[in-house]
Amino acid sequence: MPALLEIRGLSAGLQGRRSVTQVVSNVDLDVRSGEILGVVGESGCGKSTLATAIMRLLVPPQVLQSGSMTLRLNKGSSYDLVKLSESELRELRWRHLSYIPQGSMNSLNPVLRVERQMTDTLIQHGLSDKEARSRAIAALELVNLEPKILYSYPHELSGGMRQRVIIAAAVSMRPALIVADELTTALDVVTQRQILQELIGIRDELGATIILITHDMGVVAQIADRVAVMYAGKIAELGTVNGIFETPLHPYSQGLIGSIPRESGQRVEGLLGEAPSPWNYPTGCRFHPRCPKVFAHCRAQTPALQVQASDRWAACHLYDAEVAADA
Ligand SMILES: Nc1ncnc2c1ncn2[C@@H]1O[C@H](COP(=O)(O)OP(=O)(O)OP(=O)(O)O)[C@@H](O)[C@H]1O
Ligand code: SF4
Ligand SMILES: [Mg+2]
Repeated sequence: MPALLEIRGLSAGLQGRRSVTQVVSNVDLDVRSGEILGVVGESGCGKSTLATAIMRLLVPPQVLQSGSMTLRLNKGSSYDLVKLSESELRELRWRHLSYIPQGSMNSLNPVLRVERQMTDTLIQHGLSDKEARSRAIAALELVNLEPKILYSYPHELSGGMRQRVIIAAAVSMRPALIVADELTTALDVVTQRQILQELIGIRDELGATIILITHDMGVVAQIADRVAVMYAGKIAELGTVNGIFETPLHPYSQGLIGSIPRESGQRVEGLLGEAPSPWNYPTGCRFHPRCPKVFAHCRAQTPALQVQASDRWAACHLYDAEVAADA
């Protein structure tokens, strides 16, 4: 079955006075219909840049450099998001493509009741006042909020409730694709778990596809079907959650999984060093300065994301038979 969203060769960067500093480099990614795809990686590895590039919401000095993003909706309609004009994008956003930005929990307008904030956009998209209100109530139900929340001001709600209102607003048009960036980062563990369960309910109820961006491997383990591990603007590994957690192939995935705190209190084997900024991306494999398995080839040659097993891709020379034999 063709992917709902097929990303090919996507690069995005920061426009400087003389040149562009690449942040996200040559990303190839298929997002399958109905899946929850986790995109995970340390702070600064380009997750939000990828999310905003997918939504075509990059803000200068951010620039989209190259690539294509084919979105296939029901009834055979397909669009290359890279080529769409701003007005065409406005038609698609919210209705088919929905975005929950990082930190959005604090973006509700403090002087407007939830009702206005949820229904205004629906009305702008052509719904009557009555339809918008019933859509808003239905969306609130999906996140276990009662209709009376519509009469509240944001300051009357807890952080978890505000985040739920944001999610409800984002799904009220029943979009095909939801891109959610660090949805639960600011919340306590219990609320986080509840919201992740609600997200699974939304996927099942609406038949939506979700890209969930997070730096937290624990979140991915709880909710995602597949996971794309990002490092320094590239996909290091892609596969099913079970596959990657049981047998991570890329040394970076191994380090991330090794860094998850154990309930047993066992010592955590963390990753050494820090992720590089886009101005200092290393040559060859960008992970090489931190990689415990580095060999000479890694410093000069960039590994390509290649299929390694059923439903598993990794970008690492260790799995490149000819190169590893030379090492
Ligand atoms: N508008 C901008 N101006 C300057 N630097 C930027 C801008 N946007 C992104 N960057 C830089 O690009 C890199 C990637 O940023 P991005 O926000 O995509 O990372 P992230 O993986 O989402 O990080 P986090 O987990 O902290 O949210 C970082 O080094 C960041 O400082
Ligand atoms: S290519 Fe080399 S440096 Fe990069 S992850 Fe693989 S072994 Fe480590
Ligand atoms: Mg981010």
